[in-house]
Amino acid sequence: MSRSAPVVPALVLALVLAACDGGGGQGTPGGPGLRDPYFPKAGNGGYDVTHYDLRLAYDPGSRRLTGTAGITARATQDLSAFDLDLKGLDVRTVTVEGEQARWDRAGQELTVRPRDVLHDGETFQVTVRYAGTPLTLTDQDGSKEGWLPTADGAIALGEPTGSMTWFPGNHHPSDKATYDIAVTVPKGLTAVSDGEPSGETTAGGRTTFSWHTAEPMASYVATVAIGRYQVARSTVGGALPAYVAVDPARAKESRAVLAKLPEVMEWAETNFGPYPFSSTGVIVDRQDEVGYALETQNRPVFPGVLDTDTLVHELVHQWYGNSVTPRTWRDMWLSEGFATYAEWLWNEDQGGDSAQETFDSLYDGDYFGTAEADAAVWAFPPAKPSGAAYISDPPVYWRGAMVLQKIRQTVGDDTFYDIVQGWAAAHRHGNADTAQFTAYVERQAPDKDFGAIWRDWLYGDGKPPHR
Ligand code: TRP
Ligand code: ZN
Repeated sequence: MSRSAPVVPALVLALVLAACDGGGGQGTPGGPGLRDPYFPKAGNGGYDVTHYDLRLAYDPGSRRLTGTAGITARATQDLSAFDLDLKGLDVRTVTVEGEQARWDRAGQELTVRPRDVLHDGETFQVTVRYAGTPLTLTDQDGSKEGWLPTADGAIALGEPTGSMTWFPGNHHPSDKATYDIAVTVPKGLTAVSDGEPSGETTAGGRTTFSWHTAEPMASYVATVAIGRYQVARSTVGGALPAYVAVDPARAKESRAVLAKLPEVMEWAETNFGPYPFSSTGVIVDRQDEVGYALETQNRPVFPGVLDTDTLVHELVHQWYGNSVTPRTWRDMWLSEGFATYAEWLWNEDQGGDSAQETFDSLYDGDYFGTAEADAAVWAFPPAKPSGAAYISDPPVYWRGAMVLQKIRQTVGDDTFYDIVQGWAAAHRHGNADTAQFTAYVERQAPDKDFGAIWRDWLYGDGKPPHR
């Protein structure tokens, strides 16, 4: 690229050159995505976030959010510029290392140009001030996510991309971080989030609720729930703090299932190993547009319905999904297949259908009650969803669970439980992909042949020829 040289006063030129000096050269832009196979612009190149410090204020009446996002990150290359993901909202100011930075926006990319090059390995601090009415997103599969207003507040749900509607960040499951989230709401309302409560102060008719997440969290399972809640604090298994927040209008019909939280947690620890996080809980709200629960970290959100199977499913996601997090959105079955399989195990252990019976009825096409729904399980292989619109489709959940039953058939119960516990331990608080999983299983049972399972059940098109 050739450019006519502007006339630059010598002193300014010297200062610019000095700023670019420092052994790292000028650096290059980090890039707008992480090449996710389904969401190529999700996340950003050139840095890893280690901590988010989010200070938010929300007024349900005006639906206005005001935020300050403090982001601590480490450069993984010399950076002349880097992107954050943010959809909607108005950016006011951006600073890097305390200095005003230039920025611009295009789609979901907020591109920041720090005054000085950030060097590979350097830890740096970004502060973004922003405000506006956060968006509700409609995904390619038609489901709603992002910021979801309720009758008395709002809930934030971020799978797969909705968290960029309420804070700027590196919104890809491969970049996990710790969080401090403080939410200021009108007095009388409560703000619940992930992790543990770390403070509550009221001043000037508003209350600030602070939450601390000490274990790494993917941004898609970060949440904020604002509204009137009945809050119950307890402990599970004698030591683990539990924080349960329930919309009063759902309290009565939720009570029986919520009472099972300790039992489900203890059952899950027996089967899947030590719980990976420092608190548990549940959030039950009313949000009519959302037809699904989400495994938000520490405490899943149920937007209205709460049944035992779904409670089991969302709690087991804490092990598979939230602690062992898919590396990309292609690896989603490692999250959904495990959580679905856990429902089958729960029912088996409760004296209901065995996991093999559930598998058989899916294979025989008499599980869902309509031929169309039963056929949908075979639409694509679980490890290769047909596109971004399909990552939450039946093959990822049910056929993914069937892969686990195939492994159990092959190795027997003792080795199977060693595998699922060992997998959770090996990748605790990390990310993992399908190739790592198949290699792990093969290492745990070196005398068995998994070739046909991987070929037909995990990667093969159509219904596998043999159960
Ligand atoms: N992942 C959620 C769960 O299984 C459910 C979910 C989130 C979902 N987004 C979705 C289901 C979109 C269907 C469509 O716990
Ligand atoms: Zn799930």
